[in-house]
Amino acid sequence: MDKKLVEEMIELAAKQMEYSYAPYSGFKVGAALLTEEGEFYTGCNIENAAYTPSNCAERTAFFKAVSEGKRKFRAICVAGGKDGVLTDYTAPCGVCRQVMMEFCNPDTFQVIMAVSRDQYKIVTLKELLPLSFGLDNLS
Ligand code: THU
Repeated sequence: MDKKLVEEMIELAAKQMEYSYAPYSGFKVGAALLTEEGEFYTGCNIENAAYTPSNCAERTAFFKAVSEGKRKFRAICVAGGKDGVLTDYTAPCGVCRQVMMEFCNPDTFQVIMAVSRDQYKIVTLKELLPLSFGLDNLS
């Protein structure tokens, strides 16, 4: 991926951490999702006193995009840390990987895990979710 684009996505994901609602875990996460057309959809994690209704930053971004008619995506950037301090890579949880699987090509969709503008890792969805189950299995 183009380095400038990656940096832009890191900035957006890190900015989203400010909007995170995480009073229970204190772990703030932000995400920036890039559509095939080159638009960005952002998201943060949103927790709940009943715990299970909590939503991850990645799914917030996906659901915002899909609810506005977008279904083709190129990449997502994730940034997260305890009390909003970025110290390590935050990898998407299993549920978010499965949501990505629904809308993204596992061979080409890029997942950027960022600590800073110049410290990040990029992997494909297939690397994160090998031996996946998806819509193709139901056809
Ligand atoms: N979380 C995310 O939003 N994305 C991830 O990739 C990992 C975990 C959230 C869920 C919960 O609000 C908090 O981080 C701690 O698990």
